[in-house]
Amino acid sequence: MTNEPFAHVFDEMKAYVGFDKDDEAQLQAFWPTVEPQVDRIVTHFYERATAFPAGAAVLHDSAQVRRLMSTMKVWIRELLLGPHDLAYFQRRERIGRRHVDVGLPARFMFVAMSVMREDLCRVAHEALGARARPVCEAIGRATELDLAIMTGTFIERREERQLKTLQELLVERMPVSVLLLDDLLVVTAATGISHRLFGDMQAIGRPIAEALPEALVVGANLLETIDRAIASGREIQIVRVDVEIDGKERSFRLTVVPLDHASARVLVHLEELTETVQTEARMQRSEALAQLGALSAAVAHELRNPLAGISGAVQVIGRSLAQDDRRRPIMMKVEEQIQRLNVMVSELLAFSRPGTAKIAEVDLLETARGVVSLIQAEHPGVRFEVVGQGTGRADKNYVYQIVLNLVQNAVQAQGEQGLVQVRVDPGRVMVMDAGPGVPDDLREEIFRPFFTTRTRGTGLGLAICQRVAQSMHATLRLSDQRPLGGAAFVLEVEPS
Ligand code: HEM
Repeated sequence: MTNEPFAHVFDEMKAYVGFDKDDEAQLQAFWPTVEPQVDRIVTHFYERATAFPAGAAVLHDSAQVRRLMSTMKVWIRELLLGPHDLAYFQRRERIGRRHVDVGLPARFMFVAMSVMREDLCRVAHEALGARARPVCEAIGRATELDLAIMTGTFIERREERQLKTLQELLVERMPVSVLLLDDLLVVTAATGISHRLFGDMQAIGRPIAEALPEALVVGANLLETIDRAIASGREIQIVRVDVEIDGKERSFRLTVVPLDHASARVLVHLEELTETVQTEARMQRSEALAQLGALSAAVAHELRNPLAGISGAVQVIGRSLAQDDRRRPIMMKVEEQIQRLNVMVSELLAFSRPGTAKIAEVDLLETARGVVSLIQAEHPGVRFEVVGQGTGRADKNYVYQIVLNLVQNAVQAQGEQGLVQVRVDPGRVMVMDAGPGVPDDLREEIFRPFFTTRTRGTGLGLAICQRVAQSMHATLRLSDQRPLGGAAFVLEVEPS
């Protein structure tokens, strides 16, 4: 027993198991007996290794098997002949790591080592009879040492791998990157730049201005911000910078922290805010819509009663005029305008509270045909076509109302002529026209309440349709395609 410090952990291990000069001498003397049997032992090792699924699974190509067989021969030679020094220890360390790389489960190192030990001892017994005992004991100690070394590095490598996978997972999931820069503003270290941030970008070794997308460097005035942070010795945060990268609008928060370290002068912390910004915008929009809805309802209620009063009074006056009174046409004009206002009031009310949808199975083809048969008589110059077939789960009246609105828009868009087509598919109705279409910059706008290109419209038609669609869990959108050359609107309802 000794409490003296060991020069190396391998010396400590050898002392612990009692592997000494005598053992080394036993093994060396045994080598000439084993040498002629090495092929047989290695073949047996291979047969056993591949006889079980876990072993066979790691030995998939023949070149690898050949490499392993010849490595095993060298391994046996080294086990017996030594020298059991530091270089030996390091070669054994490599085995454990290699086994993690090839995906060998740890337990197979143990069972394989047991087979190997028995084979070597059998050779000893066959050749030496009763004198085999010290040789077998030396083999036992040497193989235990090998197993201990390779298991140690096996565990280390596996843990490293697991940690790395976890880190990669985290970094990949989080829209955050941290970069360290040296005096020349070259990136010396970085959390693996998040794939979510900039794809497969390599930052290390490159100047920061090249490592990050140019739009971001320029948009954040990054180089100047870094200079200022270094000069002032204070952290600077750019709370939000909006940039366009590869055609997409993205938002970032950047924090530049000056550091006082030989290899790290500055730390740049980069966080993507795009999703947060978009969610906020969506929330603001729906809040604004809700407020607008409440306002619309209030205005509509205030208008409705006086309008009814005016309308009644105008009718009374109208009736009191003689048939040929020259003021009659004027009164009719007034009544016409009142009607327009009435329509507007009803639309405002429809927008403010779309009501509760009654969802059931709807024959979309039948509904589309109903719409077309109602309005085609009013538009003799237009050719209407209803094609396809399909059903969906929706509120029949709502579908009717939306399709009617879309078809009316289509008719107006192409000036009372040409072809308007309604295409029905399962869960989907598409209304297409051959008009001028919707310009790209207005694609989002057209669904906004009170947006209109017509002089007489309320600008509520599509906004109402979209609200009505939402209230029955359907979506209404403008298609990217232009099958008839003009606009194509798609109503998608729940499939049956
Ligand atoms: C007594 C137990 C074992 C010992 C002493 C041992 C030894 C070795 C050695 C020395 C290497 C080369 C390491 C290097 O590249 O530095 C190696 C690699 C390898 N071992 Fe083991 N091994 C054992 C068990 C097993 C078992 C049971 C399998 C399962 C089939 C296996 C599969 C492999 C494979 C696939 C490689 C990589 C071969 C290559 O592509 O070069 N080993 N092993």
